[in-house]
Amino acid sequence: MMYHNQRPLVDALHQAHLDQQDVDWEKIIYSGIPWLPLDLDPPKLDQVALAKDVERWFYHNDVNKETLQSAAFTDSNIVGDSMSQRLDNEPNQRLWQGKMLFGPKDWIKETYTGTIYVEYTMARRFRNRMDCAWDIDSDHPIRKFVSSLVSDQDLYSVSVFLLPPTEYLDPHLDYNQGLKIGLASIFWGAQWDPGNDFGLAGFGLAPIKQDWVGLIDTFNHPHWVINRSQRDRINIVINLEHSAISKVIENSWRKIWR
Ligand SMILES: [Fe+2]
Repeated sequence: MMYHNQRPLVDALHQAHLDQQDVDWEKIIYSGIPWLPLDLDPPKLDQVALAKDVERWFYHNDVNKETLQSAAFTDSNIVGDSMSQRLDNEPNQRLWQGKMLFGPKDWIKETYTGTIYVEYTMARRFRNRMDCAWDIDSDHPIRKFVSSLVSDQDLYSVSVFLLPPTEYLDPHLDYNQGLKIGLASIFWGAQWDPGNDFGLAGFGLAPIKQDWVGLIDTFNHPHWVINRSQRDRINIVINLEHSAISKVIENSWRKIWR
């Protein structure tokens, strides 16, 4: 069973011509593999506290439709287009939304959807030009976990995303804005009931489950998500300078082969 679940990853690893004698974080990041489970131990988030956070971040925060309308920023971006259309056609439906927890000061207060803010590219481009800040307290478990992993200087952004039951994102590629991008973002399943699918074209479903943490390449592999569970799907996305976690990446790679 384990083998079956890991099969797409194993195939991709072979194709990348990498082996454990030649471990190098940069090769791994740009190898084309669709995901890499990280050898990290995120905290189990208290479900009551998380529910309160989610309420504050997403349910008492009116999405600014004007901002969202401008989110259809590229012809090839299906999600951006379909999201702004759906905001017109289904005004009362709660759609996929994101909220930045760390990032440029101007952006961290906003709740957003569509894909104009592919926060990895935006935050990486502007990291040295804009002041960044946290929008959660220093004792918040999400912040404590991220800070145990990387310094604020090497951090681009941290965001939380909500996907309500029955919601979905059409197959799409995240827009790379001309940057070379591989396994970009750390994905953390903070509230992930069975019935949540994260598919990547050619690789099947990513092995994400509750408390799973790993890198996912959404810039080179078309992907889609759907929430068929009864509860909101909550995930956290951490974008950082990969060299700052080079050892974690290399150790996680080795662990696959054990
Ligand atoms: Fe995406």
